Amino acid sequence: MCGIMGYVGHRSALPILLDGLRRLEYRGYDSAGVAVLNDGHIEVRKTAGKLAQLTEITSGPGLLHGTVGIGHTRWATHGLPTDANAHPHSDCGGRVVVIHNGIIENFLPLKEELQARGHTFRSDTDTEVIAHLIEEELYGHEQPGTGEPPRPLRGLGAERGNAETRRSGSLRITNHESQVTLEEAVRRAVQQTRGAYAIVVLCSDQPDRIVAVRQISPLIIGLGKGETILASDIPALLSHTRDVLVIEDGEMAVMTASGATVERLDGATVAKQPLRITWDAEMAEKGGYPHFMLKEIHEQPRALQETMMGRLDAPGAPELDGVSYSPEFVRGLRKLWITACGTAYHAGLVGRWVVEHWAKIPVEPELASELRYRDALIDPQTLTVAISQSGETADTLAAAREARKRGTRLAAITNVVGSTLSREADDVLYVRAGPEIAVASSKAYITMLVALQMLALDLAVRRGTVTPPRVAHIIQAMKALPGKAQEVLQRESEVASLAARLADREHMFFIGRGLDYAVAQEGSLKLKEISYLHSEALAAGELKHGTLALVTPGVPVFALVTQRHVYEKTLSNIQEVKARGGLVIAVAYDRDTEITKHTEVVLRIPDTLDDLAPVLAIIPLQLFAYYVARERGNDIDQPRNLAKSVTVE
Ligand code: AGP
Ligand code: GLU
Repeated sequence: MCGIMGYVGHRSALPILLDGLRRLEYRGYDSAGVAVLNDGHIEVRKTAGKLAQLTEITSGPGLLHGTVGIGHTRWATHGLPTDANAHPHSDCGGRVVVIHNGIIENFLPLKEELQARGHTFRSDTDTEVIAHLIEEELYGHEQPGTGEPPRPLRGLGAERGNAETRRSGSLRITNHESQVTLEEAVRRAVQQTRGAYAIVVLCSDQPDRIVAVRQISPLIIGLGKGETILASDIPALLSHTRDVLVIEDGEMAVMTASGATVERLDGATVAKQPLRITWDAEMAEKGGYPHFMLKEIHEQPRALQETMMGRLDAPGAPELDGVSYSPEFVRGLRKLWITACGTAYHAGLVGRWVVEHWAKIPVEPELASELRYRDALIDPQTLTVAISQSGETADTLAAAREARKRGTRLAAITNVVGSTLSREADDVLYVRAGPEIAVASSKAYITMLVALQMLALDLAVRRGTVTPPRVAHIIQAMKALPGKAQEVLQRESEVASLAARLADREHMFFIGRGLDYAVAQEGSLKLKEISYLHSEALAAGELKHGTLALVTPGVPVFALVTQRHVYEKTLSNIQEVKARGGLVIAVAYDRDTEITKHTEVVLRIPDTLDDLAPVLAIIPLQLFAYYVARERGNDIDQPRNLAKSVTVE
């Protein structure tokens, strides 16, 4: 996830790009860069850090005065947030620059092929392959060996890389004057890639245009008077125009100062009608949603897709980039520790279940604030999995360091590339949820669940504790989760009316067994965090050992019933609640016809494997918490007393 800008028109591009990037900074902000066409040459400026740093290095009278340019704020997925990895990325000759939002799944084989043909890479990103592929389509190439040095690239960020290019000097350009249009070259290049992307390309030899392609990642084109502006989101366009073209998956746009033409990647033309935007700027930043939390809840299907992308394509086993434990280590593993705080800890509880169930390794989840002060028996034959959206939570870092001191191998599951946790861990699995702004976590949680499922499956395959057909079956079911999550979201209005009905209550309970209990804990935390209601989650069988005393007529009790092996048992617990007059709200599969005999209020989720159910079962509970908080008029994105990332003890 990142912010993308492009401008072709009659005004100086730089201030427009910087202003747009500022409005998009919420999408990603670990580094930033611009490329502007200046007197026929492309000038690139890029830097790690916040946008303010980019503004600083681009300020100076008339330095970048051109009227065509592109800009990017990055949210790293491949490669640390460094100057070299910041976008734009350029080809060897410095004539093509590219910015990209998303992931090129097959970048590694492409990079190897390009390097073998003499291309020099200056970054660790997946993105850079696109610039080199386009270069080949435009200018051709010859096999390495005889090369003349490519034309120098002008611009600060590029100079270092160019020196390397000259040294290697092995790429031979065969066609200095391209006969191929930029759009044709881009089309041919992206057809070689797989993944999710919005790609924007500028070429100094075809200076009147910017070409952009979309596959999954968002792309909007604003139509102004004598100028055309492109952005990954509407807020960046609103101060210039309200007439926009929304580019769809598989479409390519060619922008010039007089407008934009859109066609499909297969060449078919697309007749697009501009859309008039009536949102105010604040609404636009939240994608039209009233709160970041609701926006992020709705981003979950896409986030799930990104978490799994490129990792579940091989039939027999997950392929986990960043995880490098040896087969001997996995075979010798005696125990897994899982440590985290809050929502991330709740994800860990789901992780325990799947690791024990699939990989047959004992797992002990422990709150980070406890583990760090415990005399935990952690030794070198253990793997400690620290989970943290931010990768900066003080307790989690301290627990991970303590575990490390005791000899464990440390694996991190985190959302933030280059975060402290990711730098300290031996293995890192990024969840790729994109920036999460709302304090109450939603998409980070759900993607942590899938990351843990992939890790568990990987361990299971390596230890031979699951059969190949079962692995294939699980992978297939995991791949269906994004679509099913979308189905749950389509049932939002039912949850909203239930929330309106119950918003004036003061206590609520959540019960479940096994994985349902883990989800109950997260559902309860969501409700507390933003609605300020008192709620508690209990293992369904534990209710009768005390807390049942609090269940009086009308008290809402959410009962999760997705786990077949304990289904009958949970039904008995539902009866216990009903016998005290409690109002039972079940969360159950579509296929479950039995449940309506026990309660009339049921929130439905599509059928899936019981082991994967938490990914879907949490969604109605997130929506419920959200709508209760809204009914009560609370500050949903920044609830009282809380902070997004807790960097103190
Ligand atoms: C989640 O809704 C909370 N804001 C909180 O529990 C959070 O999950 C916890 O502070 C851990 O944060 P982390 O994932 O960034 O480490
Ligand atoms: N995958 C690209 C990178 O890591 C783009 C990330 C983004 O969307 O900002 O550089």
